[in-house]
Order: sequence, then C-alpha cells, then structure tokens
Amino acid sequence: MKILAISASHRHGNTDAAINFLGKHLVLKGHSFRLIDLKKTNLKFSTGDSNEYYTGKPAVLDEMQEIQKEILKFDLLILATPNYFSNVSALMKNFMDRTNPYYCNHDFKNKKTALLVISASSGKSPKLCLANLKEFCRIHKMVVLNSKILLAEHSADFAKNHKLQKEIEKFADALLVKK
Ligand SMILES: Cc1cc2nc3c(=O)[nH]c(=O)nc-3n(C[C@H](O)[C@H](O)[C@H](O)COP(=O)(O)O)c2cc1C
Repeated sequence: MKILAISASHRHGNTDAAINFLGKHLVLKGHSFRLIDLKKTNLKFSTGDSNEYYTGKPAVLDEMQEIQKEILKFDLLILATPNYFSNVSALMKNFMDRTNPYYCNHDFKNKKTALLVISASSGKSPKLCLANLKEFCRIHKMVVLNSKILLAEHSADFAKNHKLQKEIEKFADALLVKK
C-alpha cells in the first residue's frame, strides 16, 4: 500500500516523532510511506475567494497543487496534528482551507484516511480537535478508517515513551487490517 502522511506540527516534537515512527513501522511491514511536513512547505493562506469552491480553479498557485496531486496518488492518507486550543494547528487549518477548490469535483471522495491528534490533555479538548478533522473528511466525502488521540505534552515525550510508541504501532497495524 502507498501511504502519505501530512503532518502539521509547528515544532520538532511529538507529532513529528510519532508520524516518523509510524512511517518506519509501515515500511518494515512492506508498505511505501511518504511524509509531507507542512512546516517545511510554503503554503500561502486562502485568499477567501469562494469562486474556487464553485469552479474548482485554485485562486492561489503554489505547492498546494502539487500536494493535491500527491494525495490522489496514494492509497491511504494520514492527517496528523497537535491539539491547539481544542482545534487543529494553524498549519493543518491552512492546509484544510486550501483544499477548497478540490471540493467542487469531490477530488478526495472515497480517499481512505486515518486521523491522529497529539494532545497534552485528554477529555473534551482533543475530542473537539478530532471532531474538526472528521468534519473536514466528511465534507470532502473521504472515508475515515481509524482515528487516534495520543497523549503527549513536552516535545520529547513520544520519543522517550515506549508505551506511546506501542500505541502507534497498534494504530498502524489496525490500519493495515482495515485497508
Ligand atoms: C498554541 C498551543 C495550544 C495548545 N492547546 C492545547 C489544548 O487546548 N489542549 C491540550 O491538551 N493541549 C494543548 N497544547 C499542547 C499540545 O497539544 C501538546 O504539547 C502536543 O504534544 C504538541 O505536539 P507537538 O509536540 O507535535 O508540537 C497546546 C500547545 C500549543 C503550542
């Protein structure tokens, strides 16, 4: 299976570590894995031009068109974000906004997707963040195979914590079964 992950942390912390760990695990199991780290891209903000929603024509030309093509090529998309104020990170939100032209022709319809939220606390806050990701997928008619909230706060927490790493392995293995 060809798996693409889009990671939206603003620092080199838990989301990066978890997604890289997950990628290595998938490769060990014989799958191909590519990571798009949004902080290394130069995606501009949406201009707020709602025409793109109706015409399918992007109002802003930059790396987003390349990312859209990449998403279409892969069998499974993993979206990973830290929980920021019970929501996705600004990088993830910008990515979501920039998919506006791809709603028009339902480019991402039936795209198999998995969602990962990294959060310091449990409870309502990360659930709200995850709900926003799920709503994004619902609008685009994507198919969410699995989702996970991973609890980690300080930037090296994931790298140091064997239990969290096991949780990610389980998450990856469940995806391979559901594919
Ligand atoms: C701007 C900001 C807002 C945050 N808001 C929340 C929050 O609402 N609830 C929570 O549990 N953690 C919150 N956190 C903590 C992060 O979710 C947590 O530290 C996570 O591990 C960050 O992932 P990262 O290491 O990939 O950056 C916030 C962190 C930042 C920087």
